[in-house]
Amino acid sequence: MDSNPVLVSDEDYEAAARERLSASVYGYFAGAAEDEVTLRENRSAWDRVKVVPRVLVDVSRRSLATTVLGTPIRFPVMTAPCAFNALADPEGEKAVARAAAAVGTVQVLSTGAAFTIEEVAEAAAGPRWFQLYCVQSLELSLRLVGRAEAAGYSAIVLTVDVPILGRRDRDVRTGFELPEGMGWKSLEFEGAAGKAPVVGGGAYRTAAQMLASGGNWTQTLDWNFLEKLCAATKLPVLVKGVLSPADALLAVERGARGVVVSNHGGRQLDGSLATAEALAPVVDAVAGRAEVFVDGGIRRGSHVLKALALGARAVLIGRPYLWGLAARGEAGVVEVLTRFRDEFDVALALAGKNSPQEVDRSLLAPAGPPR
Ligand code: FNR
Ligand code: LAC
Repeated sequence: MDSNPVLVSDEDYEAAARERLSASVYGYFAGAAEDEVTLRENRSAWDRVKVVPRVLVDVSRRSLATTVLGTPIRFPVMTAPCAFNALADPEGEKAVARAAAAVGTVQVLSTGAAFTIEEVAEAAAGPRWFQLYCVQSLELSLRLVGRAEAAGYSAIVLTVDVPILGRRDRDVRTGFELPEGMGWKSLEFEGAAGKAPVVGGGAYRTAAQMLASGGNWTQTLDWNFLEKLCAATKLPVLVKGVLSPADALLAVERGARGVVVSNHGGRQLDGSLATAEALAPVVDAVAGRAEVFVDGGIRRGSHVLKALALGARAVLIGRPYLWGLAARGEAGVVEVLTRFRDEFDVALALAGKNSPQEVDRSLLAPAGPPR
């Protein structure tokens, strides 16, 4: 095969990434829970949303810039927190940090990163949020949050859809295990400092084992934990993994400043609602009291336009940047993010809009008969 093929779409990057990854790592990234119904629905639901463009509008002065909880970004696409970016490229989360900074957007760093909170912060000066998995104890979680604050992260994204890990058939089939030495480095650091049981570092070979390293602790979390977290940090807290408008409301009432509509890319409860369909009811429930974000199956700039039309402030992408990283390292992530930016720019112009702020539900076709 051509060693430097022209890569245009997400599918092109996925194919190039697949050639470079082992079958088990490819399966870990690409896969989702059980029959992967939600994985497929996430993508097709964005395709089903239909836009009714306006015409003969002067679109010569477009600007894609917006703010996310006060942080300016150049276009409304951020990188989602994904564990173990270093399975795609040795520079892992550091490469993603540099790429996000280069294009002017936020990197959301996973608790499951293969580099520490501090190492990633040192890699680039761009804006960054920290995604929290509350494993083992409240004390350990707050220590991670404190480190993120000290290292300049500007928001905490609490992921709430993983009381336990979903069942991923592909990982079972391939026997996916973490390579020797790969782990949740920020937690290993706590272990090395004697402040927590050692996590990773060969002690655990799967994400499920790491999540379970505090016994049943992660399964016991409830809304009171969100309140404690909000009280313990000066940073704004977002809740990621909400599909129910009732939960979005609880999140806001308990102190969240943002809600991320997400089903974890279909990796948790298979059969859960596609995010494109969950978004508008959540936006309506929140009613402007928090910013609403969305991820899952967003593969085109036109999907970004649709998400904004449904009321999202910005979107996150997961697998698309992992494919860029696996195919071409840091440059690949820059290419993927740039493609989203350029596609969104064209979609905006063709819809007759000049900025994210001008995009609202009037751009969407009224819901048709049930499908
Ligand atoms: C994830 N996701 C995730 N979410 C999170 O909050 N913390 C994490 O550590 C991870 N890890 C992770 C690993 C991998 C390999 C994938 C693919 C995903 C979920 C992620 O943040 C996001 O919600 C989805 O990836 C969005 O869907 P798309 O864009 O991948 O379809
Ligand atoms: C996953 C966990 C680690 O989805 O978030 O693989």
